[in-house]
Amino acid sequence: MLILGIESSCDETAASICEDCRNIKSSVISTQIEEHKKYGGVVPEIASRRHCENILGVVRQALDNAEVTLADIDGIAVTYAPGLIGALLVGVNFAKALAFSAGKPLIPVHHIAGHIAANYICHKELEPPYLCIVASGAHSHIVEVLSYTKFHVIGRTRDDAAGECFDKCARAMGFPYPGGVHIDKAAQSGDPTAFKLPHPVVAGSEFDFSFSGLKTSVINMLHHSEQKGEVIDRNNLSASIQKAISEIITDKTILAAESLGYKKIALAGGVSANSGVRAALSVACAEKGYDFYMPELSLCGDNGAMIACQGSYNFMAGITADESLNAIATLSMDEI
Ligand code: KG4
Ligand code: ZN
Repeated sequence: MLILGIESSCDETAASICEDCRNIKSSVISTQIEEHKKYGGVVPEIASRRHCENILGVVRQALDNAEVTLADIDGIAVTYAPGLIGALLVGVNFAKALAFSAGKPLIPVHHIAGHIAANYICHKELEPPYLCIVASGAHSHIVEVLSYTKFHVIGRTRDDAAGECFDKCARAMGFPYPGGVHIDKAAQSGDPTAFKLPHPVVAGSEFDFSFSGLKTSVINMLHHSEQKGEVIDRNNLSASIQKAISEIITDKTILAAESLGYKKIALAGGVSANSGVRAALSVACAEKGYDFYMPELSLCGDNGAMIACQGSYNFMAGITADESLNAIATLSMDEI
């Protein structure tokens, strides 16, 4: 079974060919980061335009690199939610037109389910059920992965996502967009105990996150030092931010695993590339005797391979769509 996966929910136009669910034959990613960098974040209108320009070439390249033609493909999977609406619409409409013209099944994929599926590509032995923490630029979820296609979200952020917190702190410190990776790099030479940062308690839901207090505290700290003419050591502050976010993610995940009895834990989403988060969760899971899975670095951020992989499982479960498929900017995993 060969599935073509298409991703365009934010600032990466990506396509991939996946064989028999987990074997990636090709993966092509065209990133727009350099263009959005000058505005300090993703400009939705520009993202949509670049997806329009790039999508045909990216899909062609994915087919060529896999040495297959459209005729060999069994289904066309596409991210339809959640994400920037204009960006999603490009991928959805392209996939619909391609599926219609080639007479192939159309397979809708939820972006977060795609991030989770990145783990199947790297860990052939991983099978549901397990608990997954998904941390990206737009989401921070603790998800019960009940089966390949059924999910139950037990915790989510009440405000900023973990990646958003990394990026906004980084911007306040003068790092370019997207700042998460710069904090990660600077943290390598910093003292993680240099600054004490808040660990929020979210009233009413023990598995929910809140990262806006941490962000505000970092921004206030930077403003105060600037007013006093002091210079804050960026390496130390980066290391302290990374430590705080890693601890918050790890503590909540372990609490959820203990409460619900999961012994298999996975990490996913763009923030799963963070060295502090990877290390903290690995250590905590090892201490508890849990099996821990995370994607290789190339599969942490947005890519087509994770969509092709999840699309394969959706297809096997009979989840397909007709030409009425629409892009949806906000859609909980509980609703799919
Ligand atoms: O999953 P993703 O590529 O896009 C969304 O679906 O949002 O995640 C992007 C997020 C950004 O906030 C980016 O700064 C963050 O992942 N990120 C990192 C690292 N690499 C990417 N955050 C911290 N450390 C990293 N090494
Ligand atoms: Zn993503």
